[in-house]
Amino acid sequence: MTPRPPAAYRGEFPIFERCTYLNSCSLGALSRRSRARVNEYLDLWDARGASAWYDTWWAALEELRTRYGRVIGAPAGTIALHPNVSSALGVVASALDYRVRPRVIVTSLDFPTIGYQWMAKARAGVEVVVLESPDGIGVPLEAFERAVDGRTALIATSHVYFTSGAIQDVAALSAIAHRAGALCLVDGYQAAGQLPVDVEALDVDFYLGGGLKWLLGGTGVAFLHARSELLASLQPTVTGWFAHREQFRFDSRALELHDDARRLEAGTPPLMPVYAQLGGLDVLEEVGIPAIRMATAALTEDLIDGARARGLVPKVAARAEARSAIVMLPAEDPHADVRRLAEAGFIADARPGHVRVSPYFYNVPDDHRAFLECLTHGR
Ligand SMILES: Cc1ncc(COP(=O)(O)O)c(C=O)c1O
Repeated sequence: MTPRPPAAYRGEFPIFERCTYLNSCSLGALSRRSRARVNEYLDLWDARGASAWYDTWWAALEELRTRYGRVIGAPAGTIALHPNVSSALGVVASALDYRVRPRVIVTSLDFPTIGYQWMAKARAGVEVVVLESPDGIGVPLEAFERAVDGRTALIATSHVYFTSGAIQDVAALSAIAHRAGALCLVDGYQAAGQLPVDVEALDVDFYLGGGLKWLLGGTGVAFLHARSELLASLQPTVTGWFAHREQFRFDSRALELHDDARRLEAGTPPLMPVYAQLGGLDVLEEVGIPAIRMATAALTEDLIDGARARGLVPKVAARAEARSAIVMLPAEDPHADVRRLAEAGFIADARPGHVRVSPYFYNVPDDHRAFLECLTHGR
């Protein structure tokens, strides 16, 4: 069977019957398959109650770990599930030793929850160094190079900046961290799904992401990948019974952690989001992430060209290869623009000083034309 082009999957997303959706970097559109999988979960809950845990639901958790692993090229046994990235980061932050290396390097363009994990450890002597961006788009590699030294525990930054859509050179960042004996943690929330990711080629120590956006899984489910060779040395002080190697022994006297990445899990994962995510991954895997990247790269350039033709100056990376499908359009009153657009059936987002537009494989160039017409004519 010849593969269907990515845009042919638009019919899988009923939201397009009601509006033009251009906000996947906030929340991916709901697919029919996610809805069907959530209904399947509800039917199981209704029909079997807790007896569904030990065969079906347990297997669904393992299936999701495996399939998240496939999305980012991670080997088996290196994925932990969490309800959100913040809680996964909390476990990582609790597992590192800051006595000799108290510093963590982040940037002002990263999602703030990254830095917060380590700022919250200030009383324990942890110092967060925030690298500033000269242009609001990226942070030069030299700034990381200068900041990292023998007192650095970790570089913790984004694969794709939510603030500009720029793609960072993660392999270069890992090399900078490792040369100084530090670790490299990457928030891939804005990358996984829309870009092919290979954590082994990137040589990162930790890679995180979640369902909400480009993975089409909705709220309540996230993942943490940790490099296999590091696992044995990670002794989290934030933990829970899912990290125990024999959790159904219910041993209140001893904590014995899993050997694999489940040692970085905590409590019961939310099953409804797990099912929604499995449905979203069905679509993603069928379309294929390389095909998604090709489609979204073309859409991104089309949107930028269309915006420029209307006199707008999109804030995006200088080189097309470093752009992802997040396009920031400067705006005096982005909230007013976004409200007006929503009334006309266009869903985008407001960020300080910008209307943020994020097309995905289910969008088509006509979406951009109609959106830009509405944005520029209503001002
Ligand atoms: C880059 C990035 N990281 C993390 C998050 C979310 O973190 P959490 O899962 O803790 O809510 C978002 C957006 O919601 C994001 O854009």
